[in-house]
Amino acid sequence: MRKSLTLAAKLSSMSKSQGHCQSFLRNIEKEPASQMLVEELKQLDLRNLGILNVLDPYYFKKEGITKVEIERTEDYRVVMFCLPKGTKMYLHDHPNMAIYFQQIFGTMKIRCLDKINEKFQYNEISNDELLELTSSSKIISAKVSFNQVMKARASQVILPNRYNCHEMIALENSCFIDYQIPGYSAISASRKISYFEEIKLQNLPNLSKADFADNTLDCSNSVPENFTLLKYEGNSTQPPNDFIINEALFRGVYQ
Ligand SMILES: [Fe+2]
Repeated sequence: MRKSLTLAAKLSSMSKSQGHCQSFLRNIEKEPASQMLVEELKQLDLRNLGILNVLDPYYFKKEGITKVEIERTEDYRVVMFCLPKGTKMYLHDHPNMAIYFQQIFGTMKIRCLDKINEKFQYNEISNDELLELTSSSKIISAKVSFNQVMKARASQVILPNRYNCHEMIALENSCFIDYQIPGYSAISASRKISYFEEIKLQNLPNLSKADFADNTLDCSNSVPENFTLLKYEGNSTQPPNDFIINEALFRGVYQ
């Protein structure tokens, strides 16, 4: 665990020295420390994380997902999530962030989407605009880039322009850990979370231009492969109503 935290701190420091710019984060996998972190995360197991077994009631509550923040600085965040069988991590994004995702145990269906319009992909918007997108439930275009069942030891590197929007459904009690570089921002819309609902394409004819925040309708004659639609459903201060997150303190070991 300690080595992975050290590597995350190193990558975070490199990212910070470049202003957490998109070009560094999009290419973070080229860094030797990144490859070392991916390998190190594969070594994590229940014991490192203070989990007794896959039914451990400290981490698996009767209702909702349990979030355990392991480490947090201004420039990176390490957080673990435990999903009881049948629960769903609401579709959400990580704008302008790189995430090292490692599944510890369980089986989850993971669906990742890439926003198409760069303004929304990189949250090139003000805080007011972000709130407006949520309060008006605006729709943007996206494409499905990953849709698979993942099991223990599976990993994924999420980039600002790849797999950045995603949802997970636990097919059995499951646990995963995210190393986020940098973490979400409480101040700037450029790194604030949004929650989404995926809209079925069959509904496209019932939508008007005013429902969209991007120019989806203008280019709808030539829809890209795996095209889909995302509706803003919540933000950092107002998550979707039925999204229950419990918080627990970390019981694992740092060494
Ligand atoms: Fe995520």
